[in-house]
Amino acid sequence: MLSIETNQESGKKFLLPNFNGSPNQSLLPLTSTVNHENRLIIGGCDVTTLVERFGSPLYIVDEETLRSTCRQYREAFEKYYPGESLLIYASKAWSCMALCNIIASEGFGFDVVSAGELYTTLQALFHSGLSYSDNSDKIYLHGNNKSLSELNLAIDNNCTIVVDNWFELETLAKIAQTSNKKICILLRFTPGIECHTHEYIKTGHIDSKFGFDPNDLEAVFTFVSNNSAIECKGIHAHIGSQIFECKPHQDLAGVLVDWMKKAVAYGLPIKELNVGGGLGIRYTESDDPPSIDEWAKGICTAVVAACKETGLPQPKLIAEPGRSLIGTSCVTAYTIGSRKVVPGIRTYIAVDGGMSDNPRPITYQSEYLAVIANRMAAELEETVTVAGKHCESGDVLIQDIKLPVTKPGDILVVMATGAYNYSMASNYNRLPNPAAVLVNQGEANLIIKRESLEDLIYQDLLPERLVK
Ligand code: LLP
Repeated sequence: MLSIETNQESGKKFLLPNFNGSPNQSLLPLTSTVNHENRLIIGGCDVTTLVERFGSPLYIVDEETLRSTCRQYREAFEKYYPGESLLIYASKAWSCMALCNIIASEGFGFDVVSAGELYTTLQALFHSGLSYSDNSDKIYLHGNNKSLSELNLAIDNNCTIVVDNWFELETLAKIAQTSNKKICILLRFTPGIECHTHEYIKTGHIDSKFGFDPNDLEAVFTFVSNNSAIECKGIHAHIGSQIFECKPHQDLAGVLVDWMKKAVAYGLPIKELNVGGGLGIRYTESDDPPSIDEWAKGICTAVVAACKETGLPQPKLIAEPGRSLIGTSCVTAYTIGSRKVVPGIRTYIAVDGGMSDNPRPITYQSEYLAVIANRMAAELEETVTVAGKHCESGDVLIQDIKLPVTKPGDILVVMATGAYNYSMASNYNRLPNPAAVLVNQGEANLIIKRESLEDLIYQDLLPERLVK
């Protein structure tokens, strides 16, 4: 394993071999090395050569990092939780067929939030020969405003539905009565737990659009216990994303067990508790997230302790990581183009992508780090701002980063772009979505094709009356 560090005196970045932390604490994929020509190698593949072969911008996913992360999650839950546990991938972080395949093959289930994510998952499982014997144990549909067709797709495929509000609960009760189908649900409540993260990605505070208000707990339990066609398996809560503390999730575990106790009093045999996702990852050197092991330990021991205290049996414990599962596995490679020097103020270097392939800096002021893949040993001589190519002044990927003096054609690699980059990408300015390539032991396979110009107009229609 390997991480990247900066020497405080010289400012020079170097790759630190023998990194043995948790993948979510590493800036680069775990297989990253530098070859004798000082070029960045990931998954045994030369990043500069990958760009020559597949074009840029290019998302590069390291299979070994992803599998290792999956395994560390599973091992931690197996180590610290004596009861049954399940990890499900929050596929909103990045949903595509090849990633679903890898993650399912590592024993994970899936959290999906739309017909699109559900369809992608089902297709990936089917075409990989990995379909689950019972989807209700592995695939969970979330969302605060699921459409009828989304609910029906989930029910027809026997998935569990994480019910968010009264409208949805009443709709499901009607479907259950008229269709004679068994509907498995979890109930999502807002736990009222604050955490320190960006406003937009907090979900656990009371003023959140997600989940039932905990004041409705008893009314919801009464409703569900009076509807025998609905099988309530458990309770869910998610408090937010990119969290660097263990305490909020430990508190959440106590709150969930408390609700489980109340549910049991209403005759609801709660079998599952789902603590959501949220563990942060390292994007910059100052980021200091807990390890997967620490995070899992905190949650598992809190659930065990709360069950002991209340005398309840240990439920099936579910966690649904997104960012910390896929984030570190991927980097984005760009080709550097133009440069603008604003004397005495700033030097911009521009790359061939930007807010369309990574909307996180402009949306959440997220910070990223980058290296020059074809000159890894070069001195970091100047401070520049990395701009995207979009017609928007705010389209800046990295403010003030120390890099070697770059020239057009150099390959800039932005780290930790696996989560919420491709999945939030857009075609702003009609830029085609980049390709994604999976690397492992020197082999590189395309997992998402680059969009073409034809793809961009594929859905456009020209009404005949407009055509001369
Ligand atoms: N479960 C639920 C119900 C969620 O809403 C989320 C994320 C997760 C699990 C996974 O959380 P994670 O482990 O990835 O933190 N676009 C934002 C992040 C939004 C997160 C939405 N929900 C970003 O780019 O930072």
